[in-house]
Amino acid sequence: MQHPIAKARAAAGDTVPSPRAPVPDPPAEGADDPVLALRGAAVRVAGRTLWSGVDLYVGAGEFVAVLGPNGAGKSTMIKMLLGMLPAAGGDVRVLGTQPGRANHRIGYLPQRRSFDSSMRIRGTDIVRLGLDGDHWGVPLWPFGARRRATRRRVEEAIDLVGASAYAHRPIGNCSGGEQQRLLIAQALVRRPQLLLLDEPLDSLDLPNQSAVTALISRICHQENVAVVMVAHDVNPILHHLDRVVYLAEGGAASGTPEEVITSPTLTRLYGTPVEVLRTSDGRLAVVGQPEAPALHTDRHASQHTDRQDSAPGTGGDHAPG
Ligand SMILES: Nc1ncnc2c1ncn2[C@@H]1O[C@H](COP(=O)(O)OP(=O)(O)OP(=O)(O)O)[C@@H](O)[C@H]1O
Ligand SMILES: [Mg+2]
Repeated sequence: MQHPIAKARAAAGDTVPSPRAPVPDPPAEGADDPVLALRGAAVRVAGRTLWSGVDLYVGAGEFVAVLGPNGAGKSTMIKMLLGMLPAAGGDVRVLGTQPGRANHRIGYLPQRRSFDSSMRIRGTDIVRLGLDGDHWGVPLWPFGARRRATRRRVEEAIDLVGASAYAHRPIGNCSGGEQQRLLIAQALVRRPQLLLLDEPLDSLDLPNQSAVTALISRICHQENVAVVMVAHDVNPILHHLDRVVYLAEGGAASGTPEEVITSPTLTRLYGTPVEVLRTSDGRLAVVGQPEAPALHTDRHASQHTDRQDSAPGTGGDHAPG
């Protein structure tokens, strides 16, 4: 019979390559390196180039979203950053070294995690998986001082995500939002410098999307952890973001929201007319897709109602996908 921990990991889609014997970073590459540096990066899967020409620089404590339609290669980008597949072009540095060599300093939340309601393993055990020996190179059930330190760190991580009230319950009894917080705590428990979160808002209702985004943003800025988060809709997260990366068959674009979220750029990327509008109270709307226009408040409020075709301003993504 499968061990409950292994079963929980399988349910969580935990497929990070295990850095049992992490290769030390070269000494010449110091703390001043950006967390991520991509220059002209490209990815090919099964002989097909998914995206190319991606430039991205992410510093400590920055919050970045990876956006784009289904199949654009967002999850593939996360996997490339973990060294699970090679870049097909350009230069990619992660925490100052090659992808895959610094995974012990990365927290990863894979896409589409769900726990069966019959799953009896507790939230605290799920969080401790982030420290478990098979995954990270320390014993699964440590004793003595190490055991106390492990328990303390697990409690800290649970506290950080506000999950103390339900962390001792079976994970299968927790709601989707509660499970999501516990999984974020698992990704955080080893104090990573970089968090890679693949659609952490998936299947959450709007209030939970806002709450989980606010939590991630707080962790990012207070703990100085760089966050790269794949999202389907930029609207619930826009006002937290320092940078965005759009991937689409029509190409790729990256930069600050002001630089990237414009009508010409989104129209080019999605191959269909997309307009980024700004209202007099600073709210933004992205129109030109099947869904109703999306309105939301922007922290860079404008005084005028105008189209943000090329002028600086932020917007939202409701492009097809
Ligand atoms: N191992 C593989 N072999 C063949 N094709 C693959 C493989 N992995 C991914 N792909 C294809 O690459 C494309 C990008 O996949 P990816 O999972 O990165 O998309 P995504 O942007 O994350 O999509 P979604 O929004 O649906 O999660 C898809 O068309 C997918 O079918
Ligand atoms: Mg994906």
